[in-house]
Parts: sequence; structure tokens; C-alpha cells
Amino acid sequence: MSIVKKVKFENLGDLRGDLISLEQFKNIPFEIKRVYYLANTKKRESRGFHAHKKLKQVLIAVSGRCKVILDDGCQREEVILDSFQEGLLIESFVWREMHDFSENCVLLVIASEHYDEDDYLRNYEEFMKVVKNGTNT
Ligand code: TYD
Repeated sequence: MSIVKKVKFENLGDLRGDLISLEQFKNIPFEIKRVYYLANTKKRESRGFHAHKKLKQVLIAVSGRCKVILDDGCQREEVILDSFQEGLLIESFVWREMHDFSENCVLLVIASEHYDEDDYLRNYEEFMKVVKNGTNT
């Protein structure tokens, strides 16, 4: 089964332009505790390189495009985000990397938890140990 879970958002726009609404437990499948965005990411810079123990998130390229690599320890998949009308749902214990940001890319992140460094797995080997054995010891 694919680990790429895309959520399609209804466009409420009209002749004046587009309008997308995001609501917890409606088109965002969790309680929204934090929203942040990445902008002006340099062309050759990559981001992410971590997994979360608890946090889930939805990534939306509200402008431009980027490539996301997802890895759950069993499979590694690549997905292009280039539409403000869709989100990429990333569950907990999924390693993510973001690459190839276009110059105009604004990546909006809707998160289920407040920022907590203890929730991060930033070391790939440690991540693999946790998903394979359920522990990093
Ligand atoms: P980082 O997790 O490295 O960003 P990315 O995964 O997108 O590459 O975050 C960069 C820095 O910002 C790091 O010091 C943690 C801090 N940070 C916060 O303080 N609050 C937040 O909500 C986020 C996402 C990061």
C-alpha cells in the first residue's frame, strides 16, 4: 500500500479567484495545533530529513512546487507537490525529505501538535531502528 496519501481540497473560488478552506476534522483529519510555512527556500537546498513520533501533518504547496520523499522504513516513495488544491498527509513515523523547491514555492504545513523537539527523529539510523524494533535502544 502506498504511503503517499493525498487530500483533495474543494475550490470554493469563483470568477474573482480561488478560495480553499481548511478545517480540522473536515478536510484536515486531525486537530490543528500549529500552522507554519516555508518560503524562499534556495534552489539547491533540501529540508526535512526527519520523522515524528506523534505529529501528523498535511503539506500544501500553496505556490510553486517541490518534491517530497516519504519513507516508512519499508518503502520509499517520491511525490511532487504542485497544486494548492491538494495536500499530502504525512502520518507519524514517516521519514520525509523535501527537495527541488521552485523559486516561488511556499509550502504550507498544517500540524497536529505544537513544536516539540522531543517528538523528532532526526537521525535516519535511529528512525530505522524505531520502526523495525519499536525502540531506539
Ligand atoms: P527544521 O525542523 O530543521 O525545519 P525543516 O524540517 O523544514 O527542515 O526547523 C528549523 C528550525 O526551526 C529548528 O531549529 C526548529 C525550529 N522550529 C521551531 O522552532 N518551530 C517550528 O514550528 C518548526 C517547524 C521549527
